[in-house]
Amino acid sequence: MMLKRLSLTNYRKFERADIEFGDGITGIIGSNGAGKSTIVEAIVWAIYGHPAARTNKELIKRQGAGQNEPCRVVLQFELDGDDYEVVREMRGKNLAATASVKVNSGVAVMPGANSALEATEFLSKKIGMDLQPFVTSIVAMQKELDAISNLGGAKRRELVLRMLRIDAIDEAIGKARSDKRDKRKELEIRGSYLQDTEEIKRKIGEVGEAIKAGDAELDRFKKDADDAKNEADAHFAAKNELQRVYELDSKLRERLAVERMRSAHLEQLEKEKRLAVKNALGAAAKTASLEEKLSNFKVLEAKKTNLESLREKSLRRSALEKEANRALAALEEIGREGEGISARLAVFRNLDSRLEAEAAGTKSAEEELAKLFETVSKAGFSLDSLVLERKSVEEKKRKLEELGSKGNCPTCLQPLGEHREMILADLARECERLAESGISASKELSELKKLRAEKEGALVSRKAALVELQANANERKHLTERVKTMDGRREKAKSELDAARVGLSEIGACAFDEGEYAGVKSGLDALKGVAEQFAVLKNEESKIDAARHELESVENDISAAKKSLEKITLELKTLGFDKQEYDLAMRRYESAIGLLGELGIKVAGASAKSEMLAREKDALEKKLSEQEEIRKAINSLRKEITLLERLAGDRDAGLLNDFKRHLISRIGPLLSRYASESFARLTDGRYSDIELDGDYNVHIYDDGERFELGRFSGGENDLANLCLRLAISQLMGERNNTDFQFIILDEIFGSQDPERKANVMRALSDLTGRFRQIILITHVEDVKDSFERVLTVKENADGTSSVVSD
Ligand SMILES: Nc1ncnc2c1ncn2[C@@H]1O[C@H](COP(=O)(O)OP(=O)(O)O)[C@@H](O)[C@H]1O
Ligand SMILES: [Mg+2]
Repeated sequence: MMLKRLSLTNYRKFERADIEFGDGITGIIGSNGAGKSTIVEAIVWAIYGHPAARTNKELIKRQGAGQNEPCRVVLQFELDGDDYEVVREMRGKNLAATASVKVNSGVAVMPGANSALEATEFLSKKIGMDLQPFVTSIVAMQKELDAISNLGGAKRRELVLRMLRIDAIDEAIGKARSDKRDKRKELEIRGSYLQDTEEIKRKIGEVGEAIKAGDAELDRFKKDADDAKNEADAHFAAKNELQRVYELDSKLRERLAVERMRSAHLEQLEKEKRLAVKNALGAAAKTASLEEKLSNFKVLEAKKTNLESLREKSLRRSALEKEANRALAALEEIGREGEGISARLAVFRNLDSRLEAEAAGTKSAEEELAKLFETVSKAGFSLDSLVLERKSVEEKKRKLEELGSKGNCPTCLQPLGEHREMILADLARECERLAESGISASKELSELKKLRAEKEGALVSRKAALVELQANANERKHLTERVKTMDGRREKAKSELDAARVGLSEIGACAFDEGEYAGVKSGLDALKGVAEQFAVLKNEESKIDAARHELESVENDISAAKKSLEKITLELKTLGFDKQEYDLAMRRYESAIGLLGELGIKVAGASAKSEMLAREKDALEKKLSEQEEIRKAINSLRKEITLLERLAGDRDAGLLNDFKRHLISRIGPLLSRYASESFARLTDGRYSDIELDGDYNVHIYDDGERFELGRFSGGENDLANLCLRLAISQLMGERNNTDFQFIILDEIFGSQDPERKANVMRALSDLTGRFRQIILITHVEDVKDSFERVLTVKENADGTSSVVSD
């Protein structure tokens, strides 16, 4: 098997990576966590699916990839001369996995439901290995190398055997032993169910005899039951006939009883009817004696009716008279009222012209008075100004007198001198004139005031007169309206009076005598009892014909009933039913039925018994065949146990253990040979022999002498262990008949110094004779130059990684 091409899409850290594998040594270099081991994982995942991944499937797809982006690995490789292409991917929200395989471009597994598992099955069959041995064969990891070199004793042996899947034989041994235990347990259980089959067979014979006897008895009972049935049928017919006669007889007797009752009733009725005829005849005799008194009663009744109609008329008449009188009185009252109103209206004859004159007079008086008010106020004014003027002249005069004759004139500021006296005299005259004018003005004012008072008084009385005239006008208006309503009232009273008079003339004169009416009433009261008695008797009398008729019909019914009684009696006699005979037939029938019932129960019991016996026989036969089955099963279990015992006996016995021992005995020398070959090549033939002891500890021969590994240098130790690990891979491939032409070494340098690293690198180039492709994964940069081809795994800024080929 050889790798050709690998391409990853959204697988772990890789958004996209394409790797081409060539011959020789390829180095995959990159810092820790860059995604180098991811490439190995992807190769295994492409072939074996999810179990090959180190995490669950949810973590495989690149974190950050969208839901619609698939996670895909495409691996191309060559196997036994055929070209393979595997595509494995997960899609969608649920990461549904599918896979497809092409061999030499032909489709071997189609993508689709279940294709993920189909592809794995197909490929593991072709490669000839399950997941675990495949990984051991193709990848050697630092971890393993560390374990190989660090473990000692039985643990180391265990690890090597596990890598070689020898432990699979142990699992098979374990499985065989547990199978054996299970089968022994089953054998025990089945054995506990075993029974004595002879005993069962004997019982089956017994039950068979019992079934035969039961069947004979059942036949007997059935025959007896048939006989009893025939007899019961005969009794049944006889009984039915008698029963029919019995029913007829009973019906006739019922009818007889009914007819008898009817006859008795009719006889009673006849008696009643005879009495009724007799009573009616008696009543007829009595009515004749009451005839005269009754005619008196009728005369009085007629009188009473007549008088009552008169009485009613007279009542109506007096009511009408009252009505006429009332209307007359109303008419008189209306007349009087009309005269009063006319007299009053006469008083208001010139009222309108008077109102007009009075209103005009009042208006001019008001104007006159207003003028007078004005005159008075003017006169008052001129009087006031006269008084003021006089006071100012007096003041001037007084000042002048105070100044004396040497003073200056207050107006012209010239010395007064002789002018003073002259001015004083002028002022005195002026004062006098003003005083006189004041007196006459004051007189005139008081006269004016007097006149004004008079005029005011006259106006007040004029206004009062005007108010009264207006009141008269209102009254006149009111009275005129009243006159109008009075006409209506008068008309109404007149028509009422006329109606009453017409009614009275229609009734005419009417004479009703109260005393006569009372006499007639008491006469009628006295005869009332007679009239009632007469009516009762007359009613009785009227029934004569009907009573006679009814009596006749009852007598007819009685004779018909007698005939019917005779007829029924005759029918009964003809029928001639015998109760004793009937009872006897009934008893016979019942006992036959009873017998039939008993036999029925016997038949049912016997057939139930035979059914039960048949079931018992079936059950016994089934048991017998079950026992035979158990015996067969036990035999085959014993055989299987013997077989398993041979395969894996107690302790180390058995074929599988022999096989394991054989393998191990063969593996030791083979591993030694393969490891020696590599070791010789890697040490340039310095050491040509490596030997492994029982625990697969390495011993190295130096100059023909055998030494433990501890004697040698660290680098030689590493090489020896690497050779052992490579020998395991080789052996694995051979054992499964698969030729792996590639090997992947993942971080095998560990913490070695540069010189030792260089040793290993040199040794690897020597290995190319054994493997066409050697892929070395490392984070150590300085070994770069030793590779024919270098793939660098680089981490990008966005957290994804890429693979770059140098
Ligand atoms: N689904 C994933 N998406 C992105 N990164 C992942 C995913 N699964 C694992 N990783 C990262 O890949 C790295 C491990 O890669 P690995 O191949 O083991 O590295 P190395 O180069 O050391 O062998 C870790 O950093 C881990 O966080
Ligand atoms: Mg790694």
